[in-house]
Amino acid sequence: MILRCAIFDLDGVLVDTAKYHYLAWKELAAKLGFDFSPQQNERLKGVSRMDSLNILLEVGRMRERFTAEEKEKMAQEKNARYVAYISKMDSSELLGGAEALLRQLRKRGIKTALGSASKNSQLILQKVGIASLFDVIVDGNDVSHAKPDPEVFTLGADRLQIPYQDCAVFEDSEAGLQAAKRAGMAAIGIGERKNLPSADVVYQDLTQFPAERYFKFIQ
Ligand code: BG6
Ligand code: MG
Repeated sequence: MILRCAIFDLDGVLVDTAKYHYLAWKELAAKLGFDFSPQQNERLKGVSRMDSLNILLEVGRMRERFTAEEKEKMAQEKNARYVAYISKMDSSELLGGAEALLRQLRKRGIKTALGSASKNSQLILQKVGIASLFDVIVDGNDVSHAKPDPEVFTLGADRLQIPYQDCAVFEDSEAGLQAAKRAGMAAIGIGERKNLPSADVVYQDLTQFPAERYFKFIQ
C-alpha cells in the first residue's frame, strides 16, 4: 500500500485510560445516588465528555433533571477526578506495541498524528512519554464536531498537507472508524471485530499490525 501518514486515537489504542474514565464517572454516579457498571461504561468509549455525561444521566434516569450550567459543573467535577488519576500515569501504561510502532513509522519517513476526542491528551502523552513521537497533535480542544464527524482526523492530515486517501486511522471505537471512512482514510480497528463493523481490517492490538504491508517506507 502507499499510505504516508498514521493517525492514532489515544484512549484505547495507545493507552488504557478507559479504566480511569470509568472510576471518575462511577464516583460521580455514586454521588448522584446510582450505580454505574463496567458494561454501561462501554457506551462512553470514543464519546465526548458532555455526551458521556448525558449517557451517564440517562443510565441514572435523571437526564432531564439538570440545567446546562449544572451539567457543566458535573462534567468539570468528573474531569478533576479523572485528571487526578491520569496525573499518576507513567510509561508502564502504554499499550503493547504503541511506542515501537510510532518509532518505527517515524524512522522510516511516515508522518504520525494524534486524533483524539480528549481534552486531556497533552497531559497523558507527557505522562507516558510519547509526546515527541507525533508530527501533529489534534484533540478535543481543536475541533467543534465530535466523532463520527471526521474533523479530528482531517485537521491533522490538513496540517501535514497529506491527502486523506494516503492516511490510515487506528481506532478502538466504532464512531472513530466511521469518522475515518467518512474522511476517505483507511480504517484500522484495534480490538474485536464484533465491536468494530466499520473497520477495513481489525487487529487485536498494535503488536499484531504488519506496518510494511500498509505504509510506503522511504528507508
Ligand atoms: C475519548 C474517550 O478518547 O475522549 C472518551 O474514549 C472520553 O471516553 C473522551 O469521554 C473525552 O475525553 P476528556 O479527557 O476530554 O474528558
Ligand atoms: Mg478510543
